Amino acid sequence: MDKPKVVLGVSGGIAAYKACELLRRLTESGHDVRVVPTASALHFVGEATWSALSGHPAGTEVWESVHEVPHVRIGQQADLVVVAPATADMLAKAAHGLADDLLTNTLLTARCPVVFAPAMHTEMWENPATQENVATLRRRGAVVIEPAVGRLTGVDTGKGRFPDPAEIFETCRRVLARGAGERDLAGRHVVISAGGTREPLDPVRYLGNRSSGRQGYALARTAVARGARVTLVAANSELPDPAGADVVRVGTAVQLREAVLKAAADADAVVMAAAVADFRPAHYAPGKIKKRDGEEPAPVELVRNPDVLAELSADRARPGQVVVGFAAETDDVLANGRAKLARKGCDLLVVNEVGEGRTFGSAENEAVVLAADGGETPVPHGPKEDLADIVWDLVVGRLA
Ligand code: CTP
Repeated sequence: MDKPKVVLGVSGGIAAYKACELLRRLTESGHDVRVVPTASALHFVGEATWSALSGHPAGTEVWESVHEVPHVRIGQQADLVVVAPATADMLAKAAHGLADDLLTNTLLTARCPVVFAPAMHTEMWENPATQENVATLRRRGAVVIEPAVGRLTGVDTGKGRFPDPAEIFETCRRVLARGAGERDLAGRHVVISAGGTREPLDPVRYLGNRSSGRQGYALARTAVARGARVTLVAANSELPDPAGADVVRVGTAVQLREAVLKAAADADAVVMAAAVADFRPAHYAPGKIKKRDGEEPAPVELVRNPDVLAELSADRARPGQVVVGFAAETDDVLANGRAKLARKGCDLLVVNEVGEGRTFGSAENEAVVLAADGGETPVPHGPKEDLADIVWDLVVGRLA
């Protein structure tokens, strides 16, 4: 069998020297690697190193070996493109579809999965321009690995450090194993709820929660990539719409219930990743509630919201429909998770530990997926996309 063809794009950052180790790991594990550096990358590591380690020429320009049409051929033939390190400039070029050298041309012609491993100073990483470019690339299906936190070039430390080459290698292996073509949810309709509901008290105030919607959006993106028709019921999330998903925006738990039940009528699977408020204010004040000097505030009376997950599980819209819940727990995570799985009656329950600075709003997650049949799948700390793919693996197993 032909070796998998990997393009290692290297853009101009000091971490280019660490990409040599990634290259070694890729070649030694049986990949045919073609290195495409940018001209700036060659300031850090020269062409001789790249071509000696890869066994191929490592030009930067489209004007070399023109008869082989390298600006089209390299991307077209690749099974995986990994850009490591990806500088802020490279992410911007990729997000905007610029093509002024061999690497950017390759990114435009590649039909295979693309992985970016950014490395830059914290300020550049946090800049809204970079963040929007990253969001754009992710929305289009690229895997952008979160940079590590630690020592940067010079004396400063922070987020932006090149991830461990071994980790990048693992990500490449996982992405290659899945391939661009594995569409095991093709022909399926999946419904995902995401974000957090808000229960209005008056025209300016609400009871809400800290869910960002990231996990649900990751589920939507990965389901689209696996070929599903996706309805994403999004409660108050500010994330950009995932490409290819049908997004229904809702505010409250009652609205979310209505949208989810409607979409679930012909769904093969429903994943309730949204943080749904269990209670809502019993009375909505049509005018703003005012404070009055010398008066104690009136207590807020609450009433129960419908439990959408329990309802979906008890009353399946279709035979064989797979229902997945999420549980955010702060203590006794597994025991509470098992009890909740039984109480809700769903097929799978993704249990994660939450607390200050954990899970909510973060791009990463760590969880255990409990199954009604007793199965237990631990998911190590990693991107929310990885957890999403594991959930879909388990769903696909149950649909078959
Ligand atoms: N959920 C739901 N409807 C609700 C509350 C929660 O569908 N009214 C769903 C969530 O989308 C999630 C799961 O139920 O998939 C677990 O939610 P969680 O808030 O963790 O559990 P609770 O039912 O609120 O249990 P507890 O109060 O013990 O935390």
